[in-house]
Amino acid sequence: MFPSVQPTATKAWQQLQTHAGTMAQTQMKALFAADPGRFKAFSLQFGNILFDYSKNIITAETMQHLLALARECKVDEAVKAMFAAEKINATEGRAVLHTALRNESGRPVVLDGKDVMPDVKAVLKQMENFCGRVRSGEWKGFSGKRIRYIVNIGIGGSDLGPVMVTEALKPYWLEGIQPYFVSNVDGTHIAETLKKVNADETLFLIASKTFTTQETMTNAHTARSWFLENGGSEKDIALHFAALSTNEKAVTAFGIDVKNMFAFWDWVGGRYSLWSAIGLSIALTVGYEYFAALLQGAHHADVHFRDTPFERNIPVIMALLGTWYGNFFGAESEAILPYDQYMHRFAAYFQQGNMESNGKSTDRNGKPVDWQTGPVVWGEPGTNGQHAFYQLIHQGTKMIPCDFIAPAISHNPIGDHHQKLLSNFFAQTEALMNGKTAEEVRAEGTPEELVPFKVFSGNRPTNSFLLQEITPYSLGALIAMYEHKIFVQGVIWNIYSFDQWGVELGKQLANKILPELKGNEEVTSHDSSTNGLINAYKHWRS
Ligand code: F6P
Repeated sequence: MFPSVQPTATKAWQQLQTHAGTMAQTQMKALFAADPGRFKAFSLQFGNILFDYSKNIITAETMQHLLALARECKVDEAVKAMFAAEKINATEGRAVLHTALRNESGRPVVLDGKDVMPDVKAVLKQMENFCGRVRSGEWKGFSGKRIRYIVNIGIGGSDLGPVMVTEALKPYWLEGIQPYFVSNVDGTHIAETLKKVNADETLFLIASKTFTTQETMTNAHTARSWFLENGGSEKDIALHFAALSTNEKAVTAFGIDVKNMFAFWDWVGGRYSLWSAIGLSIALTVGYEYFAALLQGAHHADVHFRDTPFERNIPVIMALLGTWYGNFFGAESEAILPYDQYMHRFAAYFQQGNMESNGKSTDRNGKPVDWQTGPVVWGEPGTNGQHAFYQLIHQGTKMIPCDFIAPAISHNPIGDHHQKLLSNFFAQTEALMNGKTAEEVRAEGTPEELVPFKVFSGNRPTNSFLLQEITPYSLGALIAMYEHKIFVQGVIWNIYSFDQWGVELGKQLANKILPELKGNEEVTSHDSSTNGLINAYKHWRS
């Protein structure tokens, strides 16, 4: 296990604190004016992904201190430990090996004396074969028709990744396959989905690492009953239900044949699982070849992360910049703003990635932290967001570091839409950086009383990711970069990024309350607010 380092006790942290005092007074536009080489110095290219981080409140000295922080916090040892299959998810006693799921290097990944790669490859092969059979029509439903609808039933990591990726890769969808995703236990979600599909042409994928999650199992049972009520028989379940899980016993108990089970392992975190069998909905929708390209992009990003010196290591720099603002400028949130409509679930996906991983306040020694940890992550695609919440980013009282993401080539090159989209993408980061002074506002002929309202302070930090095109490969690489950013930040904050105990309490209480909702008798076992709400519900529903 890599050492546990209290970040605030490092020399670099002290230096960053002093340095932040100076940098808080520094204007990015002055730094640009003084240094024509700034873009070159603070941008990196990975394949066809350009990462420009020059519009940040940083100098070479800032980066030196941040890199020193990474070194003092032993990020290098942590990276080695993760790739070496050490059980760095210590509170669950597990290794963290989502990188093995996309490891196409031929190198073994040895966990507890056993190479996990043969099992990984076997499941990938099983997925490839299955996708081939569904695509060719060889796999038939109970009426002899081919499969046209995929309904993935899962939640959290067993939903968000597949949804985000299938949406982002819509231009790659196979003809004749329509995926749907059901996650919410709100019956509306499954009811509305089932209206759109026919039992004899639908394949239900029950996606759950544990196969015990209340929402998923409830939806899965509802889907099963619906299937039986709509022409399917018990024996037909084998043709229409598959399980993506680590829990063979529960899968069998549900009635799914193990032949239809696509396995993964406890060393795959739910929010890092789209690369595993959980990605079957992706592979069925875009075809296995594109799923493989997604894995390949991620693998190449893994190699970049593992082997590149920190100075040129994109995920490390992403992590350090986030730390800079979160810990030294008081920033509490980060926005992810893709200028690509297909990427509309990207921020939602990394909301779970970041907030479930680094939303912790206990350090690796079991002590409360007295430094900020994971940020609030949010975002929507541009340009929609510009007409909704950018006002606050430009002129509000909060610093919100933003990631802007855009493809140079659109999958829908209609008229000048893409140029208009990208003109906004370029303009926003420029505007956030430069702002607009009172003099500039006056020079536009603005009446004096309106000048203060039209001033933009500027100096608001952004990163830009310009991709040549959103392809399965480039998307895979980009996702992996963000994953590793989260990991590096967790190491710096000295927290465990791969457990999620914080979601348990609500689940436990919901299980306790569920039986109390059954009868009509008044509930008195909670605080007066909870009692009042439950009793009002009982009154209204009766
Ligand atoms: O909400 C907690 C969580 O455990 C997530 O980490 C996970 O992605 C999700 O629930 C779904 O879990 P499962 O895949 O086991 O159904």
